[in-house]
Amino acid sequence: MSGFGANYSIRDEIREFWSERAATFDQSVGHEIFSEAERRGWHQLIRKHLGDGAGRKALDLASGTGVISHLLHDMGFAVTGADWSEAMLAQARAKSLQRGSNIRFIMRDAENTQEPRASYDVITNRHLVWTLVDASAAFEEWFELLKPGGKLLIVDGNMGRKSWVTRLRLRFGGKPGHGNLAPGMAERLQRIREHVHFSGEMPAETVVAELLKVGFVDPVIDRQLIAIHWPQARKMSFWRGLERLTQDRFAICVRKP
Ligand SMILES: C[S@@+](CC[C@H](N)C(=O)[O-])C[C@H]1O[C@@H](n2cnc3c(N)ncnc32)[C@H](O)[C@@H]1O
Repeated sequence: MSGFGANYSIRDEIREFWSERAATFDQSVGHEIFSEAERRGWHQLIRKHLGDGAGRKALDLASGTGVISHLLHDMGFAVTGADWSEAMLAQARAKSLQRGSNIRFIMRDAENTQEPRASYDVITNRHLVWTLVDASAAFEEWFELLKPGGKLLIVDGNMGRKSWVTRLRLRFGGKPGHGNLAPGMAERLQRIREHVHFSGEMPAETVVAELLKVGFVDPVIDRQLIAIHWPQARKMSFWRGLERLTQDRFAICVRKP
């Protein structure tokens, strides 16, 4: 792939990049969940911001292999997972079949979902916001999809800001990006980063400012994610684990009035 043009856009490249990663995505710590301690940490985070499901309708955008969708399902939400990668959806559907969860997985663009307006109680996404091409279109869409009083929970991080551990690791010859990327994929990821809306740093405060512009209220930025990151770090190499604990990762919760 040499460049983006009329016949091959940044959106095609994002979809293709993740489709190529779908088969092995769940092998990485930080993607699939490898301990009950981590699962508890996720349940706590979701409960803290969204409450228990009690049959309420949840839309997990960029659902990937369905990790967050399944956490929501555990907690009693009626879950729809949406992703634009057929390969990711195939993994998610296989997982749902294996676990006997009745999650509806659909192929959709998170910036334009074609879902009914004012039809969801909660919307979630993990590691989607950094890769949005048109973030304001996406935020407007999510606002429209929520019922009045509905909540949006974003989990992401400011990966453009290198932690002191990352700087040290790179200085001593460590590879940039994820440790487990196939050859050429780190460069592709870097190129994607250069073409998305949040191409430099993505501070949580900047994301919140853009969410408020489309009408969301009551923003909460939550960096208390140790109950998730500590069990993850314990399953990683020493340096990767330390990196996980020092990166600027956060959750953001906002409400539609
Ligand atoms: C880093 S993965 C995260 C998957 C999942 N949210 C998780 O945390 O396990 C990013 C996912 O976002 C999806 N994605 C990126 N942009 C999207 C868009 N505009 N619409 C739908 N899916 C998108 C990709 O196909 C991929 O499955």
